[in-house]
Amino acid sequence: MNNFGQGIATGKIILMGEHSVVYGKPAIALPFNQVQISVKIYKTDRPITISSYYHNGLLDEAPKELFGIKQLIQIVMVYLKQPFFGIHVDIESKVPVQRGLGSSAAVSIAVVRSLFDAFDVELTQEKLNYFVDIAEQIHHENPSGLDAMTITLGKALFFQKDLGQSVISLKMDAVLVVADTGKKGLTKEAVSEVRKLWQDNPTVVNPILDRLEELTKNVKNFLENNEVIRLGLAMTEAHQLLKLMNVSDEKLEKFVDLSLKNGALGAKLTGGGRGGCMI
Ligand code: PMV
Repeated sequence: MNNFGQGIATGKIILMGEHSVVYGKPAIALPFNQVQISVKIYKTDRPITISSYYHNGLLDEAPKELFGIKQLIQIVMVYLKQPFFGIHVDIESKVPVQRGLGSSAAVSIAVVRSLFDAFDVELTQEKLNYFVDIAEQIHHENPSGLDAMTITLGKALFFQKDLGQSVISLKMDAVLVVADTGKKGLTKEAVSEVRKLWQDNPTVVNPILDRLEELTKNVKNFLENNEVIRLGLAMTEAHQLLKLMNVSDEKLEKFVDLSLKNGALGAKLTGGGRGGCMI
């Protein structure tokens, strides 16, 4: 069986500003090209089916983890004036799920790209953002939009919710290592607990958010001017601040300690935390 549409998307890494970005502070994220998602569309003569990490079979019977994708496919098919019938959506992912690497945004982006490709309709950046945001709202409730923007643009971004983003021209003579703790991250829970902490203790949390903002702004300069030592120090300080907001965990702490003891210039968790990856 030949596919007649294909869409690809990469993962992403948040270098600085996870969590504080939710409060309007800036963040820096990079596309993670080493892990990709590929979605292929096949013609069938049945109701829509899907093969993916979570489900193999009728889209209608997909589990809750795929509700966002299900809605997304429905909305895009309506937009493309296609019947809700006659295609198979094959999702092949090398982006591990729930590790802070942007798998949910990447799947949505690859799905939208594959459907527009299948029905030969031009996909603008604006349309892509619009559709991906629908699925991300279902997944994350109130996402900052950082993941989706970094993956759709495929560039290193300095991003601020409601204010937009600018591309960072990286000049870095350094290696970034991504390590997976192997434990699923709990972004949704971490985001809502940070909110509770912030509501209950604004005098503690606001200075943390302000310092994260300052560090993120500094890091933009470091990235543009090859200041690797300062970058490392800023990353480690950001990790300590995130830890104060209870979004680290035992494994992340172990990985961060181990990295620093073995010569890393800096180390921190990346993404929502409470598991997932560190850099
Ligand atoms: O865990 P991830 O990759 O979905 O990253 C979440 C980043 C947060 O700043 C914690 C939330 C957000 O919406 O930006």
